[in-house]
Amino acid sequence: MIIVLDFGGQYAHLIARRIKDLGTQAAILPYHASVDEIRKHEPLGIVLSGAPAAITEKDAIRPDMKIMDFDMPILGICYGEQLMAQHYGGSLATRGAQREYGKEEMQVKGKNGIFKGLKDQETVWMSHGDAVEKLPKGFTVTGSTRKCAVAAFENSEKKRYGLQFHPEVVHTKNGSKILENFVFRICGAAKDYSLKGLDEQLSIPIQKEVGKEGVLIAVSGGVDSLVTAALLHRAVPENLYCVLIDTGLMRKGEIEETSRYFQKQGFQHFEVVNAEKRFLERLQGILDPEKKREAIGHTFIEVFEEKARELGKKANIRFLAQGTIYPDRIESAQASGAAEKIKSHHNLTLPEKMHLKVIEPLKDLYKDEVRHLGEILGLPKERVWRQPFPGPGLAIRILGEVTPDRLSIVRETDYVYREEIRKAGLDKGVWQYFTALIPVKVVGVMADKRTYEYMIALRAVTSKDGMTADFARIPMDVLERISSRIVNDVKGVNRVLYDVSQKPPSTIEYE
Ligand code: XMP
Repeated sequence: MIIVLDFGGQYAHLIARRIKDLGTQAAILPYHASVDEIRKHEPLGIVLSGAPAAITEKDAIRPDMKIMDFDMPILGICYGEQLMAQHYGGSLATRGAQREYGKEEMQVKGKNGIFKGLKDQETVWMSHGDAVEKLPKGFTVTGSTRKCAVAAFENSEKKRYGLQFHPEVVHTKNGSKILENFVFRICGAAKDYSLKGLDEQLSIPIQKEVGKEGVLIAVSGGVDSLVTAALLHRAVPENLYCVLIDTGLMRKGEIEETSRYFQKQGFQHFEVVNAEKRFLERLQGILDPEKKREAIGHTFIEVFEEKARELGKKANIRFLAQGTIYPDRIESAQASGAAEKIKSHHNLTLPEKMHLKVIEPLKDLYKDEVRHLGEILGLPKERVWRQPFPGPGLAIRILGEVTPDRLSIVRETDYVYREEIRKAGLDKGVWQYFTALIPVKVVGVMADKRTYEYMIALRAVTSKDGMTADFARIPMDVLERISSRIVNDVKGVNRVLYDVSQKPPSTIEYE
């Protein structure tokens, strides 16, 4: 096990992810984790992540510095590197305008440690202002770039390694090799983590814990709840109770398709709760995006609680399963709105009221690990690799008030858009694509008649993790086809716009 101490840098997750990909277990702990807490995990090595702030700032954050006395390898990346240099008596320079950002060529000066097997010159990815100026005693420089004399250093006796650049991002060409050297050669970790056999590994403790008692789960058709349900179905098929709430805010055909899937797979207790009317009533007159999310979250809990009480009369339900995944749990993870809220609300209300114990079998997995687990469990590829869909559904793709007419327009346009993107073979390369209704009416002309209808925006983005995104370069002829089909087939729309904004500063969804 390798511990990644998270100083809030945007890549802490990526470091843990890469280490797991290499075949050994990694966990993220907050930077202030106590020495005892770190020791509990029995780590073979520690990685100190980057941070958004500079270590030279007055209130710079620090870990429990006793970790520096640990007799195990420590790798500091960016902020972590500077922290280590400072601790051992080196000095830093604040460089102001001399910021180094992007790809750089690094001259490799020491190849016995973390750079074993690398070339004399390597492409690395930098993002820093401050830099190590004077090395601590006993340390040697192992890499330099044009602007940064100390791009990497080490003290092999102490087993301390510092990298000013980011080996975890793909732009550092041999970044994986560097992490591999650290994890296996330097820390001596074993290649003993793989997704193979994970279904079995996760099922056994569920069987033990649940025994003959009932488990309740709210499924949405989304990947996380689906894989959780599939895993539970494998572990405790007879005592699993799945509830799919039809909020009326789902995509066209979603409820039917998901229901068919659960029935085909032989889930014994699967029910759809039709709550469309209640959700629409609660959304009436709400224009504010946050209020919309809140109304949806609360209504969801209300409907789910009612159903849970009803089921509780028939079955001995003692557990509530949730599709919480690793990034949902970690402090620095971007809280992505209502889905998180729904999860935490469930955590607070349902289990307490009904005395249910929460089980979260995917809590240590990243999204693509969840998808792979889904494949291992035999779920169809098109189900596990589908695009993300937000918890509050189509409601956040209608700006302003959600009404039945507007819902019907986004649902139909979304359907046409998805169909055309799939036909054009573009669905694999795009992270997410959907339509959003802009509730402004504009003048148009159709069959010689004046029209006065809504505008629809087409959003399609490429992204690695949803944190940043670029607009997808959809070919003009495909856009033309989509636009004319939407205006011809969907009543209530007479204009189609293509969104060319990036995140940041825009977001992926509209709200
Ligand atoms: P934004 O709009 O913040 O979206 O750029 C980033 C990613 O998060 C998804 N998203 C949500 N997912 N519940 C979810 O489960 C939500 O409330 C929610 N809001 C945004 C969004 O679809 C994108 O993938």
